[in-house]
Amino acid sequence: MQQQRKAAWPLVLASALACALAACGGGGGGGGGSATTTPPVTTTPTPPATGGGTTTPPASTTYDAGVTRLAALAAFPMGVAVGGGNEDRSLPKTPEQQTIVKKHFSQITPGNIMKMSYLHPAADTYDYTQADELVNYAAANGIAVHAHTLIWHSDYQVPTFMKNFSGDKAAWLAMLDDHVTHIASHYAGKVASWDVVNEAMADGGGGYRNSLFYQHTGADFVEHAFRAARAADPKALLYYNDYNIEWDMTKLQAVTDMVDGFKTRGVPIDGVGFQMHINMDFPSVGTISAAMKKVVDRGLKVKISELDIPINNPNSAAYKSGDIKTTYTLDLGLQQKKRYCEVVKAYMDTVPASQRGGIVVWGVDDPSSWLIQAAFNNKHADWPLLFDGQYHDKPALRGVADALTGQACTAN
Ligand code: GLA
Repeated sequence: MQQQRKAAWPLVLASALACALAACGGGGGGGGGSATTTPPVTTTPTPPATGGGTTTPPASTTYDAGVTRLAALAAFPMGVAVGGGNEDRSLPKTPEQQTIVKKHFSQITPGNIMKMSYLHPAADTYDYTQADELVNYAAANGIAVHAHTLIWHSDYQVPTFMKNFSGDKAAWLAMLDDHVTHIASHYAGKVASWDVVNEAMADGGGGYRNSLFYQHTGADFVEHAFRAARAADPKALLYYNDYNIEWDMTKLQAVTDMVDGFKTRGVPIDGVGFQMHINMDFPSVGTISAAMKKVVDRGLKVKISELDIPINNPNSAAYKSGDIKTTYTLDLGLQQKKRYCEVVKAYMDTVPASQRGGIVVWGVDDPSSWLIQAAFNNKHADWPLLFDGQYHDKPALRGVADALTGQACTAN
């Protein structure tokens, strides 16, 4: 499986990478101010890798965030994405990560191993081995699971049998319903929530992405997936999840239009996940708040589902002119602390307590971040997360804690 996964990475994911790159660029119609004015990058993406990032050296400073347990400061799930199975730095084989996860987080999101091709590799084959290991680990340690994701267009995660599937629209919908029903039934009672559909909307507005699923079913596959998930697991919260919707208001409009249609037709949905692969200088917290408010106003939960904030912004003018941070310093860490704090504060200020679906940081320790490979092409290090490569606290951890406890956001 490991080899298969590695081989599959190069095929990955214009979409998720576009999110990191476009978000970096400040090219979107966010409406809020950005320090960066360059347009989004359009270069060929490189693969993301939850569990990769071998070029990141340990951070050069140590810092005690003075946080006993992050999750204890939040009345909502405080989550982190983790690797599973044989992935690099996966939770089961990294005891140092286990220590952090148990200490600070109340929820995990399996970063990869609950995606389509892992769980449903062939038409009649479901393989739950690696995902079950993580789900069982979580249960044994009193940690909830936000499951990710039942339907995702990304080429490397669409099982081959689906790519080769022939059938009319009704047959496609039946096949996808079956997929959702099998998996959601297997995990019924064991997961708190699902990203039912990930990234169904096109970048820059215009409605649905022209995915394989869309080509065969129109938009109906989304509604079908939500109905099938609710039927299979009535207690799990059901989320729609997407990137850039914290600043691309035309894309967000497509999401809220979908939600409005769901309400009219009685399609079950509990919340919207804002991935939030964002940057130090983009988007503004005003923009983020305005975006979240549109979901709040519809009565749904808002989840920050994949938060990371790299030090370098690969699409900024500074970066392009060669101002690349290749060494982590305490000063950079403190600036990042302020940014993490401001983003979490925006969430707290905008989303009423009853609608907070939680916050998920996309990875435990810096070297495990997908961005090292995806945004920076393995050319240099970065430090997007709350813990460094030696599993030490970073100031960013303090920044999240400060926001959760109503403290001022400062860079000291
Ligand atoms: C997207 C997906 C995630 C993950 C990240 C990159 O945001 O939703 O599952 O693949 O890209 O790690």
